[in-house]
Amino acid sequence: SDKSVQVKLVLLGEAAVGKSSVVLRFVSNEFQANKEPTIGAAFLTQKCRLEDRVLRYEIWDTAGQERFHSLAPMYYRNAQAAVVVYDITKATSLEKAKSWVKELQRQANPNIVIALAGNKVDLVQPSSPSSGGAGSSDAEDEADDATATPGEAATADSESLRQVPLDEAQAYATEAGLLFFETSAKTGEGIVELFTEIAKKIPIE
Ligand code: GTP
Ligand code: MG
Repeated sequence: SDKSVQVKLVLLGEAAVGKSSVVLRFVSNEFQANKEPTIGAAFLTQKCRLEDRVLRYEIWDTAGQERFHSLAPMYYRNAQAAVVVYDITKATSLEKAKSWVKELQRQANPNIVIALAGNKVDLVQPSSPSSGGAGSSDAEDEADDATATPGEAATADSESLRQVPLDEAQAYATEAGLLFFETSAKTGEGIVELFTEIAKKIPIE
């Protein structure tokens, strides 16, 4: 029999920040480069093992498009946990995340565990620590030269996609009492940690 504790978790955040992709990585360890927008919401489940117990997440992955906003209370009502996602390459998505956090803190279960996830961190990381080094002359570097300022390293080029500094988001999360992770649904970075740290904060019944 399944004795694991069920935990209702909702994902919220602006359209296209990667909510469904974060869930797909957590539940199936997969990534889809052209994931279609969610309509309404999707429901998925996934077990999460801690040292002393197993939780079964019942996940409501909501649609970020504005026309679905009014449905959100149905999904965060009675939720024990929420993941509010933004895209670190899009500053407006952090503002949207902050407004979701406010709404949750006013309207959701007062004991809800909220985590902030700054997704798409892979977009600001070089694929190799030595890429863009002086003297390299492979095809990839020549392609980069077409768009980059002459002499600028590829690492600086990719870091410039970042619109939300790590310490700014961390400071906001600390002030608002949120767990915080930068994640990548594409590489898997931070995803298991995100759901595991939430699980650790769910009170034992
Ligand atoms: P809505 O359902 O419309 O609210 O969007 P969503 O937040 O569920 O976003 P979704 O998961 O559909 O991802 C949107 C696009 O971003 C897709 O093309 C994904 O492949 C891409 N994407 C999601 N996560 C990542 C990531 O971590 N890195 C990169 N590079 N792309 C990502
Ligand atoms: Mg989606």
